[in-house]
Amino acid sequence: MGMHEQPAADDGDALIRMEGVNKVFGNFTALSDVSIDVREGEFLTLLGPSGSGKSTTLMCLAGFETPTRGRILYRGEDVTRLSPEKRGLGVVFQGYALFPHMTVAENVGYPLVVRKVPKAERDANIRAMLSTVGLGGYEDRRIQGLSGGQQQRVALARALIFGPKLLLLDEPFSALDRSLRGEMQSELARIHKELGTAFVFVTHDQDEALSLSDRIAVFNKGKMEQVASPSDIYEAPASTFVAGFVGKTNLLDVTDLVAGNGNGLYRARYGDVEIICKGPEHLAHAGSGKLSVRAEEAELHASAPASADLNAIKVRLLRSVYFGGWVEALLEDSAGKLFSVRLTTTRARHTGLQDGRDYWLSWPKGTGYLVPA
Ligand SMILES: Nc1ncnc2c1ncn2[C@@H]1O[C@H](COP(=O)(O)OP(=O)(O)O)[C@@H](O)[C@H]1O
Ligand SMILES: [Mg+2]
Repeated sequence: MGMHEQPAADDGDALIRMEGVNKVFGNFTALSDVSIDVREGEFLTLLGPSGSGKSTTLMCLAGFETPTRGRILYRGEDVTRLSPEKRGLGVVFQGYALFPHMTVAENVGYPLVVRKVPKAERDANIRAMLSTVGLGGYEDRRIQGLSGGQQQRVALARALIFGPKLLLLDEPFSALDRSLRGEMQSELARIHKELGTAFVFVTHDQDEALSLSDRIAVFNKGKMEQVASPSDIYEAPASTFVAGFVGKTNLLDVTDLVAGNGNGLYRARYGDVEIICKGPEHLAHAGSGKLSVRAEEAELHASAPASADLNAIKVRLLRSVYFGGWVEALLEDSAGKLFSVRLTTTRARHTGLQDGRDYWLSWPKGTGYLVPA
């Protein structure tokens, strides 16, 4: 299995499947061979830096953009060229896009008016949906008088009221301040659980992605580099990009890879130091690779650690930065390679950090994860 392995092939119960989608704007390729399945009821997050193709992917799923090549299937049926209205998916855009002159109830009920749902049924649904999003009793309020968080709840209610099988959300909380964002994230998780509707959520915020998702698809320059559970994305990244984008990591050039006997472990060499680490099976014949060692996985010691269970490298402390609960130490080894280590503040005080001094940087044998160079 290669790093661009796609999960599609054996996933028979996909709600929506994107197959080999390319999207070209003029002579710019915004999406290149993206294949992804959205499963019934899951919370799937598209994560990546600005411009990596997340919104374009979402717009192709919604039907507001048409792929240049490739297909989109809804429960096996080709909807690649079907209009957004006929797909019947809920969408929450980056801006709230509410109707400012209408009340909360009129905004939320709009999709039901379009679908010609009788008034009594409509009112009951609006009441129930407003209660679901935590806005019970807000029916007659004006949009202008609402806070950003409340407007976002209205947008959610409007996107969900007609019972879509899939809700698409494009960075819905990016305009909210940090504490409100946290509150809305918990609310979204609760609503997802309550309704059981599949959500496809776009964000560039790794913490948001890790904390909310069943699965995360990581995008880079129009390509999907990995789709996996949050813990697999973090602990078994498929590429140097994924390792570096999610969390803070150190990427070491390692050589002389020797795979263990099916135990997921490798022996490798960094300079003249022998290292034991984890890695995917498919690197067994690669010979060399990059070893991702998480900043919080490493420790510093004033003298050479005695334990045989640690990988250890001699380094010099360039400087350290205080972050309250933790301290980030920037270090350099004799080969000029820079390392970043995150220590709890207690631990840093105990070690005694002094710029210019030599330390031993260690991390447990069997941790650290190999990615293709
Ligand atoms: N309608 C368009 N015309 C031209 N270029 C576009 C258009 N939409 C998106 N792009 C380009 O495609 C790339 C991916 O955009 P987008 O999917 O919006 O990225 P993201 O949502 O990850 O920030 C960007 O470089 C963007 O400028
Ligand atoms: Mg975007």
